[in-house]
Amino acid sequence: MNKFLLFLFAFVLTYSSFAQTLLYKDKNAATEKRVEDLLKRMTLEEKIFQMNQWAYGQNTNENNFEDKVRDLKPEIGSLIYRSQSPVFRNQIQKKAMEETRLGIPILMGFDVIHGFRTVFPIPLAQACSWNPDLVKQACHIAAKEAKLSGVDWTFSPMIDVARDARWGRVSEGYGEDSYTNAVFCVAAVNGYQGEKLTDKYSIAACLKHYIGYSLSEGGRDYQYSDVSGQTLWETFMPPYEAGVKAGVATLMSGFNDLSGVPASANHYTLTEVLKERWGHDGFVVSDWGSVQQLIQQGVAKDKKECALKSLMAGVEMDMVDNVYLENLKQLVDEGKVPVATIDEAVRRILRVKFRLGLFDNPYVEELPESKRYLQPEDRKVAAEIAAESMVLLKNTNNTLPITSAIKNIALIGPMVMDSVHIMGFWEGYGNSKDAESIFEGFSKEFNGKATLNYAKGCDFDGKNEDGFAEAVQAAAKSDVIVLCLGEKRNWSGENGVRSTLALPAIQEKLVAELKKTGKPIVLVLSSGRPLELIRLEPMADAILEIWQPGTDGGSATAGIISGRINPSGKLSITFPLATGQIPIYYNMRQSSRPWLGKYQDIPSLPLYWFGHGLSYTTYNYGEVKLSATQIKKNQTLVAEVEVSNNGNVDGKETVLWFISDPVATISRPMKELKYFEKKMLKAGEKSIYRFEIVPERDLSFTDSNGKRYVESGDYFVIVNNQKVKFELVD
Ligand code: NOJ
Repeated sequence: MNKFLLFLFAFVLTYSSFAQTLLYKDKNAATEKRVEDLLKRMTLEEKIFQMNQWAYGQNTNENNFEDKVRDLKPEIGSLIYRSQSPVFRNQIQKKAMEETRLGIPILMGFDVIHGFRTVFPIPLAQACSWNPDLVKQACHIAAKEAKLSGVDWTFSPMIDVARDARWGRVSEGYGEDSYTNAVFCVAAVNGYQGEKLTDKYSIAACLKHYIGYSLSEGGRDYQYSDVSGQTLWETFMPPYEAGVKAGVATLMSGFNDLSGVPASANHYTLTEVLKERWGHDGFVVSDWGSVQQLIQQGVAKDKKECALKSLMAGVEMDMVDNVYLENLKQLVDEGKVPVATIDEAVRRILRVKFRLGLFDNPYVEELPESKRYLQPEDRKVAAEIAAESMVLLKNTNNTLPITSAIKNIALIGPMVMDSVHIMGFWEGYGNSKDAESIFEGFSKEFNGKATLNYAKGCDFDGKNEDGFAEAVQAAAKSDVIVLCLGEKRNWSGENGVRSTLALPAIQEKLVAELKKTGKPIVLVLSSGRPLELIRLEPMADAILEIWQPGTDGGSATAGIISGRINPSGKLSITFPLATGQIPIYYNMRQSSRPWLGKYQDIPSLPLYWFGHGLSYTTYNYGEVKLSATQIKKNQTLVAEVEVSNNGNVDGKETVLWFISDPVATISRPMKELKYFEKKMLKAGEKSIYRFEIVPERDLSFTDSNGKRYVESGDYFVIVNNQKVKFELVD
């Protein structure tokens, strides 16, 4: 053996035994020990790289991998992984693992919001199902499809309680109520993250947009938001606190302002509350460019100051704008950012990577698409959740379901043949080729039972009325008109702002034309927000809100129309009568002069309140019974109500339990949802629904710094139309 080979042999031997002894590479060592071991080996530059996220990989043509991978700095902390290819991901990861000094895996993130390839209904709709187990299942399927495509981390769930539906992002959250958002947040986190983050199909979740984003003025995205301490704690914080308690790995800081201190530079929310009070030990990623946007928000003069403010406030990772990458070193050299702050940020990022098992299993399985996506059992869940999310808003004279006596159905409107808008915004890698249109759903459902007379009638918007005549003809030869209207997918979602919740005039005009035929009209509405129906509702005999139900929405819609499926959705957000009523939500405060302050031109009540939703059966609520009329603060009160299904069809009924606290030191909303439960009740069956009222949890309120109080006095339990009093004593 020549000298060179001997040297090489000795080097390899030394290096490999050295590598074996590296604590951070030892999968049996405790996570914290591994984190500390790795941290102390890192240079400042390596640490700063970990604190940056790039967006990459848009081109999924496998022949281009080489170029893409060659361009990448493998030391980067995270990538927004805009590809569906596990092969591409593994190539990138290989570079990080093998070509960097320390072999730190890259965390691949992506917006898996309501599905990856199998697309579920938009989150606003999911909440209308009142079925957190189903939402958890959907999130787990989304996690599986994403993971098998190379994604480790989703920027979901969005839990911004939203009460101004002009703001298009109302579609991405779970509606107007804080408690509802908290419950579905926990379901989503558990669905994405699974039992353990290291499980085969688990991915890390991210609560967003921390915090107050939905208060954007005028409903316009990215506008200033004025958030009082009271509103912050009462309305916005509870879902985040619940998500943190459920073990969410990460959070995203918002684009918005919080009364003068931007959400991405807010030490109070990011550090004092999140890390110090709640003890969150994962990390916070900024929103896309929200570090740099501190300049527009008027609190930083240049990018360097942006980096300083965001990091010192508690944002550990900078999404795509390179502000950390370009400025942190200098800030450390100048003594403005302590190395300890960098270390703490990197520690948090590494902790999440270790928890995900990325150091030990950096690569994902490389399966063909047919094995990754749209598995029949997953589509069954998609169809189920689509059906449970749909809300029957109106059903005069039992227009629905369409009985077998009806032999001719006019199927009209721009939504009938659509397979794009039905998927909603943030559809992941949903492909319209996979989506079932309403037409396809109806064709299967009514095959051999009724003739479908289709006409488009008009487009989603514009002024062209040329299709009206054909629509009227289709209606004339039918017994009932199913009129499928709605919004385009990009009318909601990020930057999808509208000044009115009404459908464009052309769609309203089509309804008016068809009304003249005298045939019953069933409106099927697909939208990313509640709609203004002030002119449409009086013309419709029945209204079914299907939202943007995803790949399997067509069959779910048809199933409800035919009666195969009994609708069970109830609104997670109020439908105002007209846009001018905004903000209007169920848990408003009582007016100081409830008998005055009415609108001069329209009624003051909304068209459909939060919680509204009809069924094809009738549920009878017995008397609400309380286990006591008086309890002490350390006692539990049990409230029960018997609900019977008095109709001829099986159904699922959700009981919503509200509490009202009419007199308190800080005025309380007129009522607040505290618990809900959905159960299947077969025709003729009855069941007792039960709510255990725990004073500390269900009767307390917070001040503007999150301190909780439970006050003695009178309270009411509200269920359906019943209001039952009890007293809390010291
Ligand atoms: C901006 C959006 O506000 C946020 O919700 C999303 O997760 C990021 N972009 C990444 O795409």
